[in-house]
Amino acid sequence: PNCDAFVDKLLTWYDDNGRHHLPWRKNDASPFEVLVAELMLQQTSVEQVQEVFEEFVEKFPNPDSVVAVSEEEISEEIEPLGLQKRTKYFRKASHRIIEQHGGHVPDERSELLDLHGAGEYTAASVLAHAHGKDAVAVDTNVARVLSRVFGLDAADDPNAAENWDLAERSSPTGRCSDYLHALIDFGSTVCTASNPKCSDCPVADLCDYAE
Ligand code: ADE
Repeated sequence: PNCDAFVDKLLTWYDDNGRHHLPWRKNDASPFEVLVAELMLQQTSVEQVQEVFEEFVEKFPNPDSVVAVSEEEISEEIEPLGLQKRTKYFRKASHRIIEQHGGHVPDERSELLDLHGAGEYTAASVLAHAHGKDAVAVDTNVARVLSRVFGLDAADDPNAAENWDLAERSSPTGRCSDYLHALIDFGSTVCTASNPKCSDCPVADLCDYAE
């Protein structure tokens, strides 16, 4: 596949059309804020997370402020999101960050995977978005876009190794964070699961799936 042409066009689309305003994507978002966002975004929509996120990080901008309050206070704050097991994740992960990492969100994959609630997707996302590392994370949107463009059989399976391989092979060195955000936004607005907007798509000419 011609990865470079695809990546160039996608990044140009993202510059003009991406959701740059999302609070956890702002340049001054701290690594802790990025981690909080990624934990909140698990199985939860961007719209839901947006409202809860801003108030949460205002009250709890760092691990110290999370562990300083009762479990109930955290629980109440994230209640609108559902998945209350996240209360324990925030508290335990914050404790570990303080005790083992001097209060800083680690920048090693294995250390991130050791944080409560963090799997491969969250660890890779934090590496890319919080620490500017070259790492890729494949969710359903990303898997759908890549498998359509490059004609993979794995369809929209975010766990398929071939989608992770392709994400890695196509990812632009030094711009992984933008690339991942671009794939997520593109998949949720243009390359949608049903009724994709192929007639309006900036990469239709090099896409295996577009008519
Ligand atoms: N927007 C939607 N999902 C996201 C994620 N997992 N990371 C960053 N931004 C997102």
